[in-house]
Amino acid sequence: AKVLVIQGPNLNLLGMREPEIYGSATLDDIHQELAEQAKKFGVEIECFQSNHEGAIIDRIHQAMGEIDGIIINPGAYTHYSIAIRDALSSVCIPAIEVHLSNIHAREEFRHRSFIAPVVLGQIVGLGVIGYQLALQALVAHFREKNI
Ligand code: DQA
Repeated sequence: AKVLVIQGPNLNLLGMREPEIYGSATLDDIHQELAEQAKKFGVEIECFQSNHEGAIIDRIHQAMGEIDGIIINPGAYTHYSIAIRDALSSVCIPAIEVHLSNIHAREEFRHRSFIAPVVLGQIVGLGVIGYQLALQALVAHFREKNI
């Protein structure tokens, strides 16, 4: 099975970006840990980051027939991108939404996710562990579905 991790805008700045909110781990740290975990689970993993909505949509489209599960942190696009939501629901690949911070405890404009209705589940507020939990949940989903 193959998992695609999609990281949206500004997540390339993790480590230096508002560390009191997002922690000190860099995106590379997160991806390295995920790769180690994936190895243990016996799944393949690919990590992708973009600051561009269209590039994220293109990557989701390319995942058709190639990827069995998606872990996505859409960054601020979470709160307004109907296009990313539509891409996810079009490709019918099971996805899990992750946010490092607890979006429900922050500004009101972050409370709404346009992505949440089209994913298996959402993990928020647990920092980098959220990505690991998402991978664990996808692997459990694959086993259930014999993928
Ligand atoms: C975020 C939360 C979003 O509101 C914000 O725009 C981000 C990061 C998170 O991981 O906590 O860029 O998705």
